[in-house]
Amino acid sequence: MTSKDQITSRHLLIIQHVRTTSVNISLWPSMILTIAAAGGRLDDVWQKAYEKARKIVEKMSIVEKVNLTTGTGWGSGPCIGNTGSVPRLGIPSLCIQDGPNGVRFTDFITHFPSGLAAGSTFNRGLIYLRGRALGREHRKKGVHIMLGPTIGPIGLKAAGGRNWEGFGADPYLQGVAGAATIEGIQDEGVIATVRHLVGNEQEHFRQVGEWDENGWDKMKSSISSNIGDRAMHEIYLWPFADAVRAGAGGVMCSYNQLNNTYACENSYLMNYLLKEELGFQGFVMADWGAQHKGVYSALAGLDMTMPGEVFDDWLSGKSYWGPLLTRAVYNHTIPQTRLNDMATRIIAPFFAQKSISLPTESDLPNFSSWTYHTYGQQYPYQHYGPIIQQNWHKDARSKFSDDAALNVAREAIVLLKNSGHNLPIAKIDGVRRLFVAGVGAGADPKGFNCKDQRCVDGVLTSGWGSASVNNPFVITPFEAISHKAREQGIVVDYSSDAWDLEHVSNLADYADLSIVVVNADSGEGYIEVDDNYGDRKNLSIWHDGDTLIQTIAGRCRKTVVVINSVGPVNLEKWIENENVVAVLYTAPLGQYTGKAIAEVLFGDVNPSGKLPFTIAKKKQHYVPIIDELTSSKPQDNFDRDIYLDYRFFDKHTINPRFEFGFGLSYTSFEVSDLKIKEINAPSEYLPYPEEYLPEYHTIEDDVCDPEDALFPHDEFDPVPGFIYPYLYDENVFTVEGDTSFDYPKGYSPDPKCNPPLAGGGLGGNEALWEVLYEVSAEVKNTGKLQGGHVVQLYLEFPSTILTSPPKVLRGFEKVFLDSGKKAKVNFKILHRDLSIWDPESQQWIIQTGTYKVYVASSSRKVDLCGEIDIGA
Ligand SMILES: *[C@@H]1O[C@H](CO)[C@@H](O)[C@H](O)[C@H]1NC(C)=O
Ligand SMILES: *[C@@H]1O[C@H](CO)[C@@H](O)[C@H](O)[C@H]1NC(C)=O
Ligand SMILES: *[C@@H]1O[C@H](CO)[C@@H](O)[C@H](O)[C@H]1NC(C)=O
Ligand SMILES: *[C@@H]1O[C@H](CO)[C@@H](O)[C@H](O)[C@H]1NC(C)=O
Ligand SMILES: *[C@@H]1O[C@H](CO)[C@@H](O)[C@H](O)[C@H]1NC(C)=O
Repeated sequence: MTSKDQITSRHLLIIQHVRTTSVNISLWPSMILTIAAAGGRLDDVWQKAYEKARKIVEKMSIVEKVNLTTGTGWGSGPCIGNTGSVPRLGIPSLCIQDGPNGVRFTDFITHFPSGLAAGSTFNRGLIYLRGRALGREHRKKGVHIMLGPTIGPIGLKAAGGRNWEGFGADPYLQGVAGAATIEGIQDEGVIATVRHLVGNEQEHFRQVGEWDENGWDKMKSSISSNIGDRAMHEIYLWPFADAVRAGAGGVMCSYNQLNNTYACENSYLMNYLLKEELGFQGFVMADWGAQHKGVYSALAGLDMTMPGEVFDDWLSGKSYWGPLLTRAVYNHTIPQTRLNDMATRIIAPFFAQKSISLPTESDLPNFSSWTYHTYGQQYPYQHYGPIIQQNWHKDARSKFSDDAALNVAREAIVLLKNSGHNLPIAKIDGVRRLFVAGVGAGADPKGFNCKDQRCVDGVLTSGWGSASVNNPFVITPFEAISHKAREQGIVVDYSSDAWDLEHVSNLADYADLSIVVVNADSGEGYIEVDDNYGDRKNLSIWHDGDTLIQTIAGRCRKTVVVINSVGPVNLEKWIENENVVAVLYTAPLGQYTGKAIAEVLFGDVNPSGKLPFTIAKKKQHYVPIIDELTSSKPQDNFDRDIYLDYRFFDKHTINPRFEFGFGLSYTSFEVSDLKIKEINAPSEYLPYPEEYLPEYHTIEDDVCDPEDALFPHDEFDPVPGFIYPYLYDENVFTVEGDTSFDYPKGYSPDPKCNPPLAGGGLGGNEALWEVLYEVSAEVKNTGKLQGGHVVQLYLEFPSTILTSPPKVLRGFEKVFLDSGKKAKVNFKILHRDLSIWDPESQQWIIQTGTYKVYVASSSRKVDLCGEIDIGA
């Protein structure tokens, strides 16, 4: 409840707050817009990195700087994205490669479990190791900038095509897992690019020009995600704050529009929210073809365009930047300070961390995204250039990667049901005859590697699209289960037929225990599978899995269901069937899918994964995909506001089938002894951040001499379709500077002195990261088996100023304990963890009142409860 008095006194407080400082900066949103610009330096490490970068950039000519900002074009270079090079200074083309689950488009790499699987482990340390392994393999292949991790979509819509790339439907989980992954990747010398900023919650209509043949040509602009300010801060931007804090070098802006401005030309998003408020110091890169305007996007804060061309005009050489960016600088439409800033932001991340260095001309990728042959023409897409070595087939794998991939797969598996304790399977329980069924149990008839993993008629190792990875091999569930069964003298039968139910019934009838492996798939919007345009068209299990499960359960008293899927599926048709004795859920697990599943089924591994989203009973409880075009400018109003996933179910007291954070074990745990300790006294309002650091030196404007920018025809011939930074005609020089250009609202090229109140540190105001409380509890393994338990910390906020969800996740710790053993877990509650975003005053506020502290084993199962009182 918000009382009028409180509002009044709050406003007074804010006003006093303003008066007590000499800083001349307004708190009100409209005013903030007018100061929005490219951000300043605020961190010592980055300050030093900037100095080094500036010393390099100041030696560059305009065309050399433009070269760094613009991709050379689709297929014009070995990687999925390649920047222009600066040969004069020994800087090669930067190799930019997908992706978040392994190195795309090459061989001898590991197919890691998906981001969603990593999220399901709720194990920060393990997520970091997965990040390191990802980074190490990218580095071994010669990648400089990796496209990952994915922390948006956040998972607003259960059927969203790319949810499986990210870590789960909670900003805190995405933030912790995203930061750990970034740290891992960058510790191995590769720059991480977090994607996608922001609101890319569905694939339908994400990009104008995609699926025109479907009647989508009526669409005049990409879908607009209309996100309220509070939800933007507390939900969608939250994990990006963690990513910036973790030092991510790159951020990728998304295809969709945000409030009817394209994300990649949204000054408020890039200049203000990202660069000012979150203090992001690196570069913003456009998703492939997500740029829609040249000058405008540059002024709005975009620093790099990929792959170089305009969308869907690959190989045309047509770019919004390249020559046009050069021209816009020459005719003074884009100030040179902006181009310098772009180039500096691209170079600086290579100096911001000891483990990373600016590549030299001998540090090149040793694979080609465009051919698997060892030798081939230099530009396979253009059929151009000499025959050269394209692939060295370097084995990037190691025991380190293997362990990371397998351990994540094992810990990701969530045990949803185990009535009668029929799992783990053991011969002594009378299981002598096993039947393994379901399309997900064996290989797709087409094999393990269809283009971008669009095969769906077999074991699911990932979703489809740019985050997919070639499988170096796959251990199928059937292979691994039958191997274990044979070791125990169990006989195994198998059918992956989902349609011949009579046949399957007979096999089930004979078995002591049946295991049905089913799946549901989705992916990126450029691929359609069975009328699923990226997003899933329904939340059912594929291949009529419900009927298969019901049929088998009708004949076999012990039926175990393994669901391998990209997100929640509807379980209602059979979940209460008493013959369905056990159910496992797994997100896509990569190459080791079957091995990890078999180890859990047979008890080599005690399941410890937790659901990274809620599974509802009714589809009306989920946010639907907008899949019909009712307007040429499709609008997606994010009406759920801050009530993402379990927050919605809790608010409306809707019983889910399985709640966020849920997952059973073969052993049992007891949590006790809650302690809450104040470390630093909370303050209601944020202190003003310090001024931006002064720039030690600035780069002087170049003299715009026409000769410098012309295509050097005497030096080399242009490659067809290749994007160069050069001018092709001299007419540009007759053009006088045009100062009437329509700058993004609030844009000013002048350097800022002061960050906004919510800004001033990496990820936001430094005070947000201060530890205010420490919470601890004791966990005991009270069962007979060794096992892992995820202790979850949720907070319930007071409603002094604004109402918040009944519970929000603010901590998790995973502990592994032998039977009878105890351990203590500690949580640090930061200033930001207790804060709400107040749209009116544009700041994070800690409300006075009582905060409930829940130590829980899921978002619905509270083990211990305490309170924090924050007085006025
Ligand atoms: C721009 O990059 C291309 C491709 O790497 C290179 O051929 C060209 O020499 C570069 N231009 C300048 C001015 O450095
Ligand atoms: C975006 O749109 C939402 C919903 O209409 C609105 O609440 C919010 O204030 C808008 N944000 C900006 C930055 O304009
Ligand atoms: C300057 O160049 C840019 C890029 O080609 C163009 O959009 C703009 O109209 C030009 N301005 C003038 C005054 O010619
Ligand atoms: C592959 O590329 C990396 C990075 O450039 C390099 O260190 C390594 O020597 C290369 N390996 C081969 C086989 O070319
Ligand atoms: C749901 O989608 C799957 C995959 O496209 C399809 O096989 C199935 O028939 C659909 N189910 C329903 C009930 O529409």
